[in-house]
Amino acid sequence: MEQSVIISNNLKTELATALSECEHDRLFVLADDNTAAQCWPLIRNFFCLRGARLITIPASDTHKDLESLTHVWRQLGQGGATRHSCLINLGGGMVTDLGGFAASTFKRGIDFINIPTTLLAMVDASVGGKTGINFDGLKNEIGVFNDAKRVLLDTEFLRTLDERNLRSGYAEMLKHGLISSESHWAELLNFDLERPDLQQLARLLAESVQVKERIVGKDPYEKGLRKALNLGHTFGHAFESFSLRKQDKATPILHGYAVAYGLVCELYLSALKTGFPTEKMHQTVQFIRDHYGRFTISCDDYNELIALMRHDKKNTAGTINFTLLGNIGDIRINQTAGEDDIKEALDFFREG
Ligand SMILES: NC(=O)c1ccc[n+]([C@@H]2O[C@H](COP(=O)([O-])OP(=O)(O)OC[C@H]3O[C@@H](n4cnc5c(N)ncnc54)[C@H](O)[C@@H]3O)[C@@H](O)[C@H]2O)c1
Ligand SMILES: [Zn+2]
Repeated sequence: MEQSVIISNNLKTELATALSECEHDRLFVLADDNTAAQCWPLIRNFFCLRGARLITIPASDTHKDLESLTHVWRQLGQGGATRHSCLINLGGGMVTDLGGFAASTFKRGIDFINIPTTLLAMVDASVGGKTGINFDGLKNEIGVFNDAKRVLLDTEFLRTLDERNLRSGYAEMLKHGLISSESHWAELLNFDLERPDLQQLARLLAESVQVKERIVGKDPYEKGLRKALNLGHTFGHAFESFSLRKQDKATPILHGYAVAYGLVCELYLSALKTGFPTEKMHQTVQFIRDHYGRFTISCDDYNELIALMRHDKKNTAGTINFTLLGNIGDIRINQTAGEDDIKEALDFFREG
C-alpha cells in the first residue's frame, strides 16, 4: 500500500480530509504525557476531532513496552472501538511505533493516522511502515510492517521541542542528504541549526521524507536497498549501546547524536574503502563537530565497540556489515571492513 505523507500548511483541513477518507465510527487519539500537554491543545478543538477520546501513555522509549501497549488495547476496548474505528498517533517515534502496532493488532487491525511531533518522527519513524515495541530488553523486538493511512507533518509542533531532540532528528536528515543528492546535502549543511527557521525546515523536510519514501517504496521489507538507511548506524548503534552502559543512565546520548557520530566514522570508512571524496567528508564532519560536539572514547574502548558492532542484529555470522558511499548518492550496501579499518575510523573520530 502506498503511504501518503503530507507536508501540512493547514492541519485542520488536512486532518479533516484524512478522516473523511478513513471512514470510522469512533475516533481515538494516542499521546504520551508530554505530547498530551504540549501538542494535543493545538488540535483538540478541531471540529473533525469532536468526540475523540484521548489515550495517554508515559513518555520515553522505556515505556514503548507491553504494559503501555496493553493499556492502549484496553482503552480502545473500553472506549467501544470496533474494527471500523480509527486511531490518531500524536507524538514522537515512541508513540507512532507503539500506536501503529496497537492499531495494527486491535481486532486484527484498525486504521491509523500519524501526526509526528518530533523531527525524528517526522523524517523517519512515522514514515515507512515499521511499527512495534521493545521486549525483554531488546529494541523493536515485536512488531509488524503496516502503513499509516496518512502521515501529516506540521513543523509547528516543533516549537515546543527541545534543542537536543531537534538536532537528533536533523542527523537523520543529514543521512538522507548523503544518500540522495549533492544539492540536498549542500542545503542541509547550510541550514542554520542554531536559529531554525521552521518554514525553511519544512521545505527541507519535504525533500528528506521523499528520500526515505523512495527507498522504502523500492524495498519495503529491507531485502536490499533499504539498507541505505543504515548509513551511520553500524557505528551509531554501537555508540548508543556503549553510552547506555558507560554513562549516567539518566543522560544517555540520543539516537540521532549516535547516528551523527556514526556518520563521521562511516564517511571515513567510505573515503578509505569506496572512494568517497575526502573534501565532502571533511565538510560533513565539520558540520557534525560544530552541532553535535564530541563523544568521548579512548583506544581502550575500541574492542568493546567492535564487539557491540558484531552483535548488531543486521550482521550475518562473524562479519560486520556497513552501508558506505562512493560519493553523495552513490550507495554501496553490504560492505565489510576489518578490525584494523574500524580502528582507523575510530582514531579519526577521536582525533580527526
Ligand atoms: N519505525 C521506524 O522506522 C523508526 C525509525 C526511527 C526511530 N524509531 C523509534 O522512534 C523512537 C524515538 O523517537 P523520538 O526521537 O521521536 O522519541 P520520543 O517519541 O521518545 O520523543 C522524544 C521526547 O520528546 C517529547 N516530545 C515529542 N514531541 C514533542 C513536542 N512537539 N514538544 C515537546 N516535547 C515533545 C516526547 O514526549 C519525548 O519525551 C524510538 O522508539 C525508535 O525506536 C522508529
Ligand atoms: Zn536512525
